[in-house]
Amino acid sequence: MAFNYTAKDKKKTVDQSMLLCCKFFISEGRNIATLDAVERVARSNPETVIVNKFHDRTYNRARYSLVSYVLHDCTGNAIYSPLQQTVVAMAEAAFNSINLELHDGAHPRLGAVDDIVFHPLARASMDEAAWLAKAVAADIGNQFNVPVFLYAAAHPTGKELDKIRRELGYYRPNVTGFQWAGWTMPDILPQTPDEGPIVVSRARGISMIGARSWVTLYNIPILSTDISVARKIARKVSARGGGLPTVQTLGIVCEDSTEIACMLLEPNQIGADRVQNLVEMLAAQEGLDVEKGYFTDFSPEMIIEKYMNLISANRSSP
Ligand SMILES: *[C@@H]1O[C@H](CO)[C@@H](O)[C@H](O)[C@H]1NC(C)=O
Ligand SMILES: *[C@@H]1O[C@H](CO)[C@@H](O)[C@H](O)[C@H]1NC(C)=O
Repeated sequence: MAFNYTAKDKKKTVDQSMLLCCKFFISEGRNIATLDAVERVARSNPETVIVNKFHDRTYNRARYSLVSYVLHDCTGNAIYSPLQQTVVAMAEAAFNSINLELHDGAHPRLGAVDDIVFHPLARASMDEAAWLAKAVAADIGNQFNVPVFLYAAAHPTGKELDKIRRELGYYRPNVTGFQWAGWTMPDILPQTPDEGPIVVSRARGISMIGARSWVTLYNIPILSTDISVARKIARKVSARGGGLPTVQTLGIVCEDSTEIACMLLEPNQIGADRVQNLVEMLAAQEGLDVEKGYFTDFSPEMIIEKYMNLISANRSSP
């Protein structure tokens, strides 16, 4: 394979320890054609790598974890990452095939492209992740006419995702059995978004875009179909309910059980074991059994390793 001068030149300046990870969440986990369309777009850029994906039929939600590098100018400001183009193209594919008005699922959501979060990896910093979050937010707001709310390090005052979601009604299901169906919000938003219009398209909804340190996602199945008990346990485990600090939870209905979906915001301080133990204890008080939880993604170390392996495999192939 022959490289022209610019490609070779660029390759020299790419520092593969300045990496960003993007987690891209869409409100679709069932329609294979849609999932394929989004993935095809993600794979069409050889400089961005899908290191993992997670589809959940009951949640009707999917997540793609992508990694690439970030480049700086001579003053150290981030100026380019191949992730920007890939992520915006994935959003376009998602908006073209997901209609929130026809969507239903067990996981809350406000948008067809519900959440995009950037994490710094290896030697990259939060500033770079926040720069990319804001660049993608501007593109999505302007190109697709979708209201975008920035959060955490991408927000001017660091406003957190759960707070914005709560203000917008994210956690309120509109169908019995704790299901979210169709558009569940007024068409004119109660707050001005950071990018895009204040009037929402019911088909596309709202997108949340943020930057923050690594979040571990850990789900614990409860062997009961009683969602009110699952939600009670979820609340007691969460920081908000006076449980474990830095832990956020959601009680979710599954096919023949329920599940506590946990976001561990400081996984090195309060890890999955602590959460598992507390859930088991609280469930036992309700006379319920709990299964061992599962992680829905790799650790940051494994993600970096997978990325390095995938790009070096391609470099050495003829
Ligand atoms: C590796 O190369 C193949 C074929 O050229 C391409 O389809 C794929 O997207 C590349 N993957 C990465 C991680 O660069
Ligand atoms: C709530 O759910 C129903 C489906 O049962 C849907 O038709 C409707 O548009 C949704 N939104 C509101 C605001 O009721």
